Amino acid sequence: MASSSAVAVVVAVAVLAVVQTVDGRNRLNPAINCSRMVQQAPHDTPWVPQCNDTTNEMLPLQTKKDGTKFCVDKYVASVVLDPIAPDASITCDCVAAAVELRRSSSKPLFVPDCDPATGLYLSKQCNRRKECWCSDPTGRQIGLKWGATVKLSMIPSVAAELEPHRAAIQSHPNCDALVKYFARAMERASA
Ligand SMILES: *[C@@H]1O[C@H](CO)[C@@H](O)[C@H](O)[C@H]1NC(C)=O
Ligand SMILES: *[C@@H]1O[C@H](CO)[C@@H](O)[C@H](O)[C@H]1NC(C)=O
Repeated sequence: MASSSAVAVVVAVAVLAVVQTVDGRNRLNPAINCSRMVQQAPHDTPWVPQCNDTTNEMLPLQTKKDGTKFCVDKYVASVVLDPIAPDASITCDCVAAAVELRRSSSKPLFVPDCDPATGLYLSKQCNRRKECWCSDPTGRQIGLKWGATVKLSMIPSVAAELEPHRAAIQSHPNCDALVKYFARAMERASA
């Protein structure tokens, strides 16, 4: 009993430490003041920041006066996605999620991979445990994860449980094909 409550205390302290680090980091470095940036922008600037009226933070998706779009890290006002094609249609959800996850922990389990041209989620995503899965362009998981999970199959009881799914877990699917197939299936279902 003594050892299990000692473990509980250690876990509780560890959780507290993590929470305090995250809070501390956010308190020390809040998102930059967007309306101040707007006030300080020179008149002839090619870009005036666009702000969230509620939070006064920079919007993840920014548009220059000439119409070109790019994505920013609202905490430091740095460009995190700047497509080469000037008329590119881009979305910043994936890079904004990556920014938040990197801030939430010094070693986040998962940071999404984003398409550098469009900002969409890449069709294959992996975490730090080397588990991978297919993703639709908005970041929704399609199908099963594979990778590190397979190691569980070395434990006989788990192996038996996984047996029906083994093919799906172990066959690294072609994510581009799977995501396209899923999108078509969704279209058919809603037609
Ligand atoms: C942000 O900047 C504006 C303009 O300089 C200022 O009025 C406002 O108090 C600032 N907000 C915060 C939270 O610092
Ligand atoms: C502004 O921030 C609020 C609070 O985080 C959020 O709910 C809202 O969607 C944001 N607005 C825009 C235009 O991004």
